[in-house]
Amino acid sequence: MREEHKKDRNTYSDTLLAMNQSLVTIANHSREKIEYLIRMAQEFEKHPNRLLLQGRVVATLFFEPSTRTRLSFETAANRLGARVIGFADPKVTSGTKGETLKDTIMMVSNYADVIVMRHHLEGAALYASEISPVPIINAGDGANQHPSQTMLDLYTIYQTQGTLDNLNIYLVGDLKYGRTVHSLLTAMRHFNPTFHFIAPDELAMPETYKQYCRKHGIRFVEHKEFDADVIAGADILYMTRVQRERFTDLMEYERVKDRYLLKLDMLTKAKDNMRILHPLPRVNEIEYAIDDDPHAYYFQQARNGLFAREALICDVLGITLEQVKEDQTIIS
Ligand code: CP
Repeated sequence: MREEHKKDRNTYSDTLLAMNQSLVTIANHSREKIEYLIRMAQEFEKHPNRLLLQGRVVATLFFEPSTRTRLSFETAANRLGARVIGFADPKVTSGTKGETLKDTIMMVSNYADVIVMRHHLEGAALYASEISPVPIINAGDGANQHPSQTMLDLYTIYQTQGTLDNLNIYLVGDLKYGRTVHSLLTAMRHFNPTFHFIAPDELAMPETYKQYCRKHGIRFVEHKEFDADVIAGADILYMTRVQRERFTDLMEYERVKDRYLLKLDMLTKAKDNMRILHPLPRVNEIEYAIDDDPHAYYFQQARNGLFAREALICDVLGITLEQVKEDQTIIS
């Protein structure tokens, strides 16, 4: 962390920063809170296996498909000694009989201490947080936000760059529907980034997020070209998938789906510190030959999801960084 922020950090005690509440969006997190969660994730990277959550139950309700988010949340809960209930497919629930989201949340909150939920409707997590007696963690709501992904992205950016400050972050692909890029953009406002948006017109960064940048003094540049010269300035090259499931017009999807493919020969001018991130799954955005290139970091990024999500589950349950540091339940 930068020296000048150490003073600020000291004005926040761990207890003040630890809040027993839902995580719906990361937009409201302060710089200090983000740095606090990064420090907590670092503790979990050192010792991921503990019994901190023994006796607790974590519910994972996935109304939309997922591999990484669900499995890393469940791994996080399991590695901390909690038990996990939930579903990966809403077709096996009483939602198919007409049960509402409200009633589902009220039922599950009878059984679990925290609910991790992914839903196709924007605002579903906020709604759930307003009615739920237990904390909700938003695991993605439509094209809106994906705050736990952003925590692991921030953790990864800090890990690879040694700082979150003053970075050139290039966002490529589906910037219209990409909830990961929307979340990342809002979280980075504390860190003086310069964003570069690279997307086809049909998938350009929505005006609301550009207005957000203007309001918060975040610099951004829009590109149509995607080549070695454009990439040369990047510290972070954040690739995204064009999300077929968000299109109402599949002809439009076919027109744009393969527009921006990152190829190995496009990295010839890349900075040494540049790292390629992708929330995954990838479809046709990064050629497989790049996987062995030192700039590729998307699999390590996904691994960091475990540590970031261990921190997030503890945080919403009111477990502080201090408690994590003093924890005596570590399993080697
Ligand atoms: N990054 C991400 O959200 O991946 P999943 O859809 O597999 O959870």
